[in-house]
Amino acid sequence: MRLIEVRNPDEAKTVAADLIQTYRPRVFGAATGATPELLYRELVDRRALDPSTTVCLLDEYIGLSTNHPQRYRHVIERQLATALGLSVVSPDVDADDLARACCAYDTMLDEVGGIDVQILGIGRNGHIAFNEPGTLFETATHVVELAATTRADNARFFVTDERPPTHAITQGIASIRRARHVILIATGRAKADAVAAMLDGPISTSVPATALRDHANVVVIADCEALAARAVTNHQRCVTTCPT
Ligand code: F6R
Repeated sequence: MRLIEVRNPDEAKTVAADLIQTYRPRVFGAATGATPELLYRELVDRRALDPSTTVCLLDEYIGLSTNHPQRYRHVIERQLATALGLSVVSPDVDADDLARACCAYDTMLDEVGGIDVQILGIGRNGHIAFNEPGTLFETATHVVELAATTRADNARFFVTDERPPTHAITQGIASIRRARHVILIATGRAKADAVAAMLDGPISTSVPATALRDHANVVVIADCEALAARAVTNHQRCVTTCPT
């Protein structure tokens, strides 16, 4: 795992966009959530992805109406794909047979040639995609029941009287590990414990992000706040430049 320490989310998005332009992905794996929003805006501004690029969703809620604005397909279309003219593939969360839809999604990822660059955020509980603590590292794409912390965190994207769905289809940890390059972005104090566990703790299913530790091409881009809980203080630049 290569760690790039940055001062703030703005610097994180610039470093991530530079890396993506170096990798020149044909197949781009997109996380949703607050973390990558700035990055996607930057990629659009730079016109950094060729229109022939295929965008593959990392996960998708089950149970939202097809035109619901928080469907991750719509979020990624709004934030990234439409402006750049990119095609989007996602798991079929409306299928009668969801188990079959999960297998079909892994097959689809293979058919498009595999993911060249996968963007990830990290949950407060150390999840990657919607692989919640306890998920085996061998899991392929599957249906997941979202953890209470995940639903609480994601409630901010929904209008007040609406609760986030209880279930989703997520790429499994094995699916994510097949990506050629992984860029995980972590910003903000809320992620500090998860980031410390991912970087320095034992490799364990209780912190799903530790499954990335032995991947050959993972870059973690983390800001000072997200690195604040590390026992190892090798982030001198952050220590000296971040307000306390
Ligand atoms: C999103 C996803 C999640 C988020 C994570 C962080 O597709 O799979 O793993 O990356 O929950 O979310 P934010 O960025 O909103 O803090």
